[in-house]
Amino acid sequence: MTIRMVDVLARKRDGGELTGEEIAFFVREYAAGAIPDYQAAALLMAIYLRGMNRRETVDLTLAMAHSGELLDLHDIAPRIVDKHSSGGVGDKTSLAVLPLVAACGVPVGKMSGRGLGSSGGTLDKMESFAGWSPELSLAQFKRQLRDIGLVLAGQTADLAPADGKLYALRDVTATVSNRSLIAASIMSKKLAAGADAIVLDVKAGSGAFMPTVAAAEDLARLMVEIGADAGREVVALISDMNQPLGHAVGNALEVKEAIAALQGGGPDEFWQHCLTVAATMVRLAGAAATDDEARALITAARADGRGLAKLRQLVVAQGGDGRQVDDPSRLPQARYVEPIEATGSGTVAAMDTGELGWVCVRCGGGRLVKSDRIDPGVGFLLTAKIGDTIEKGQVIGEIHANDDMTLQQAQRDIPAALTLSPDPVAPPPLFYATINGE
Ligand code: URA
Repeated sequence: MTIRMVDVLARKRDGGELTGEEIAFFVREYAAGAIPDYQAAALLMAIYLRGMNRRETVDLTLAMAHSGELLDLHDIAPRIVDKHSSGGVGDKTSLAVLPLVAACGVPVGKMSGRGLGSSGGTLDKMESFAGWSPELSLAQFKRQLRDIGLVLAGQTADLAPADGKLYALRDVTATVSNRSLIAASIMSKKLAAGADAIVLDVKAGSGAFMPTVAAAEDLARLMVEIGADAGREVVALISDMNQPLGHAVGNALEVKEAIAALQGGGPDEFWQHCLTVAATMVRLAGAAATDDEARALITAARADGRGLAKLRQLVVAQGGDGRQVDDPSRLPQARYVEPIEATGSGTVAAMDTGELGWVCVRCGGGRLVKSDRIDPGVGFLLTAKIGDTIEKGQVIGEIHANDDMTLQQAQRDIPAALTLSPDPVAPPPLFYATINGE
C-alpha cells in the first residue's frame, strides 16, 4: 500500500502508533529530499507532543542509522570507543576528553552534532579553528583513524544523513527535548560511526533536555538498551547540568577553556568531569583494568602534554589552523568584553541554565533559523557557581559580544537567571548515577 505523508502526520497528531514501514518511509524520503521541511517539522512536533513508544523509537533509530553507511572499523583496530553527550550549556567535554583518550592509545571515532536549542554543539565549537571541517568521506574517516587514532566527523551524505537533516530542523522548531527524538538522534550516529564501546554523558537539570535525574535515567536506559541490541557496550553517566559546565559558554570561549584544561588549568569541576568521562572510555576500551588505572593514564596524558598535542593533530588533520591550539589568542575574539555584575547579594541557589544557553544563542553563538551563521567569538564567562556567596555589584563573569544591543541584553539576562538565597546552599554533585547494560 502506498504510504502518504499526510496520513502519517494525521495518525501521530491523533496520538496513534506509527508502523515500522511508515517510520522507514519518512526517514528514507526525508533524507532523499522527497518530503519537504514543513511536513517533517509537523511530524516532529506531533512526535514531541504525542510521544513514541519503545518500538517506534527503536524503529526510528535503526531507520536513521541505516539512512547512510554503518561503518565497520575492525580492519583498523579491534576496539574503537566513542562518547556522546545528551547536550548541555558550556559542555565542551569532548574537546578535552577525545584527545586525552586517543593520546592513551585508544582509537576514538566520533560523530558529533551542532548546537541544538539552548545547548552548544561540538562541531560549531571546533569550527572556531580557521579552516577546520567535520565533513569527511568514509575513506578519510578511516584513514585518519588509522593515522592519528582520532576522528571527529559530522553527519554527511554517507553517515547518518537523516539525523543531519532532522537535527538541524529540530534545532529551530522547538522539538529538541523529547526522549525518543534524542535517543534516536544520538544512537543512530553512534551505530553509524561503528564504535564497539560507547560512553553516554546524559545530563540532568535546568540546562539539560531532561530536567530531572529520573528523566535522564529513563533516557539513558533506553539508549543503553538500543546499543546492547546492536551489540555495542554502552555505559551512561548521569551528570549534573543545573549550571554551566566550567565557566565558558560560547564557541571559541569554550575551545579556550578546553585548551586550558589540556594544559593543566581551567576550572577544576570541568576537569573532574572530563577525567571521569575519559577514564570510563579508557576502561571500556580495555586499556585499563580498573578505574584508578584509567584515571592515572588520563592524568599522565594531560600532564606531559600528549593530550594537547593530540588536539593539535586533530585540528590540523581536518584542515584547521594548529597555531590556534598553541596560541588560543588567535581564536575568534568578540569586539566588546564587559563585566557581568551581580544584581543582588546572597548564595547562588539555582540557575536557569537553559536561559543562560539562550543568552549565548541570542548573542549569535547559536541559530534561531537554519540559515543563521554562528558567530564564534561571542558568549560569556560565568565564574559564580551554585553554593557561592556573592555581593551586589560583584563581578561574576564577563560578556563577549559583537554589538551593543546583545551586550546590554546579556548584561541584564545573565544575573536575572541566578536565584539567590539568604541561606547556605550545597553545590550539586558532578555525577548522580551510572547505568550500564547489566
Ligand atoms: N545530541 C544529539 O546528537 N542529539 C540530540 O537529540 C541531543 C543531543
